[in-house]
Amino acid sequence: MANITFSSPLHKDKTVYAVAGSHKQTILEIAKENHIPIDFGCGNGECGTCLVKVFSIDRKKRMAHPLTEHETKVLKEMGKITQAQIDQMRVDDLMPTEWRLACQMVMRDEDIIVEYPSR
Ligand code: FES
Repeated sequence: MANITFSSPLHKDKTVYAVAGSHKQTILEIAKENHIPIDFGCGNGECGTCLVKVFSIDRKKRMAHPLTEHETKVLKEMGKITQAQIDQMRVDDLMPTEWRLACQMVMRDEDIIVEYPSR
């Protein structure tokens, strides 16, 4: 089971939580279970409220977490991803940017860092 570390640069105490997530849960579901205050609205990848930044634990390698169709559309509308990045994602099947929607990204077998809020 992979670990997910939640971090918020806006919290004065820089509290970091590390919890294990299953491969069926979204980041938002894991955050809710662990009382991590990530804002959300629709829960369906349409409003962009749950915007977060996601990194591999070493913050270096690109991860194999391609965006969902909902994420692709919303992140492009929000100016967080370019068409060139979308095209490259469809070629290499890797995460094109650190921006994600917490309600759409499902954990895989990889330790990650999630920064919130990201705006
Ligand atoms: Fe609306 Fe995630 S809660 S996009």
